[in-house]
Amino acid sequence: MKDWLKTAVFYEIYPQSFKDTNADGIGDFNGIIEKLDYIKSVGFNAIWLNPCYKSPFNDAGYDVTDYYTVAERYGTNEDLKRLFYEAHTRGMHIILDLVPGHTSLECEWFIQSQKATPNEYSGRYIWTDSVWTDVTGISGITGSYRGLSERDGSCAVNFFTCQPALNYGFAKVTEPWQSSMDSPEALQTRTAMIDVIKFWIGMGCDGFRVDMAGSLVKNDDEEQSATVRLWQEIFAEVKKHYPEAVFVSEWGEPDRALCAGFDMDFLLHFGSSHYMDLFRTDKPYFSYDGRGNLEEFFKSYLENLKKTMGNGYICIPSGNHDMERISRALDNEQIKLAFAFLMSMPGIPFVYYGDEIGMKYLKNIASVEGGYYRTGARTPMQWDTSSNCGFSAASPNKLYIAIDPDEGRPTVEEQMLDDTSVLNELKRIITVRHSCKELGSDSDFELISCGYPLLYRRGKKVLVAINPTQEEKTVECSAIASEIIYSYNGGAVLEDGKITVKPASVAYIRLEN
Ligand code: GLC
Repeated sequence: MKDWLKTAVFYEIYPQSFKDTNADGIGDFNGIIEKLDYIKSVGFNAIWLNPCYKSPFNDAGYDVTDYYTVAERYGTNEDLKRLFYEAHTRGMHIILDLVPGHTSLECEWFIQSQKATPNEYSGRYIWTDSVWTDVTGISGITGSYRGLSERDGSCAVNFFTCQPALNYGFAKVTEPWQSSMDSPEALQTRTAMIDVIKFWIGMGCDGFRVDMAGSLVKNDDEEQSATVRLWQEIFAEVKKHYPEAVFVSEWGEPDRALCAGFDMDFLLHFGSSHYMDLFRTDKPYFSYDGRGNLEEFFKSYLENLKKTMGNGYICIPSGNHDMERISRALDNEQIKLAFAFLMSMPGIPFVYYGDEIGMKYLKNIASVEGGYYRTGARTPMQWDTSSNCGFSAASPNKLYIAIDPDEGRPTVEEQMLDDTSVLNELKRIITVRHSCKELGSDSDFELISCGYPLLYRRGKKVLVAINPTQEEKTVECSAIASEIIYSYNGGAVLEDGKITVKPASVAYIRLEN
């Protein structure tokens, strides 16, 4: 395991909405560089940047036109290189977003692939052998692109219609037009993607978050064993040249992803993790009424932890660009408790930009760049009380997405000055995580109780107690306290074989041997 990962705390940046320095209403690399000191000051030491390559932006950049060139609106390849450099000089790391499953319709590979005359790219995407033959009902394929090409065939789509599926082959070939995983055309796609990975790592990035990592081989079995094998083979090649590069998968199945060679995998709004039970169902665990239930979450978490221990990390994010923000169901006090949970769990925490100040999820706003409901979680970062909240000097009607119109919206500037803010509490919590090895990514996890209060032990020596409800909670607990490492809102008292956790509070307690 790469050393820096052991202490990593990631910050996800959606570049469009972070900081605009050239007044075009959209964020850019120079804006991120400008804010690196801020990011570091909160305690983050690693950044995941959403896709920033050339794209028609029908899906916010997850529809790549040129894997080797960044979108002009963010700057140049040289600017991105400078961002890597500036991050590294501050002891931080940056991973990019790799979109290996599909391209945009404008990608030169797809333009060539649509031609009737066979060429180098004819097998780069998944095509049937006639436009009258569709590609429905195959696992990993979400639809088709038909009747719009010179070529007589239907092209499989990986997500939206604007995202034609790249051809990594089929685990089980059942039709003449399907390629096997080891066919020359599937191997060429693989090599092309490996070249992209090598290019950016060569430019100074530290690795990748991999989009829809589990989607590549079609018609795979229940365990996705062919996709697991594909990644093992990709990593064997990449790691020969770049053993230090790190990869985190959007897979949602840590057991499979880590076995495939990823260093870490996310728990997500899809998959079997019950991640949503924490902060986002209609009865989230982190709410005052105490009607949440984490049994299924921990059942799956503990199974995954057991299977993956020592092999890589499970990442629990505060949110991401695909989910409603954590603030939709949680108020600022609850968000602080949620952070105390995230920063005391094993694996690697990820915080979505803006969550550190409790930015709001904006309901029912018009979709931007294929965002739909996700657009409300992608509004511009609120830096200060100047115009456009310091996000951009463009006129408000030119902004990528409008600023949250609520006058009470949080800003970084105000929260920095307020000792009781979410931002300052998160800073304190991250500092505790960084200074206490028991709370780190690798150390042992033992669940004691997943009702109210939530109790678990880290590294055998540290007890974490969280009570999101408005009532004091007392349960039996035979441990003996030696020192309170962190407590918020009253914390907890551990004595006489019992622990009492105050309403809406948390405590990290060092135990006696
Ligand atoms: C992933 C991305 C999402 C995108 C989709 C298609 O889920 O996180 O934003 O729309 O893949 O690439």
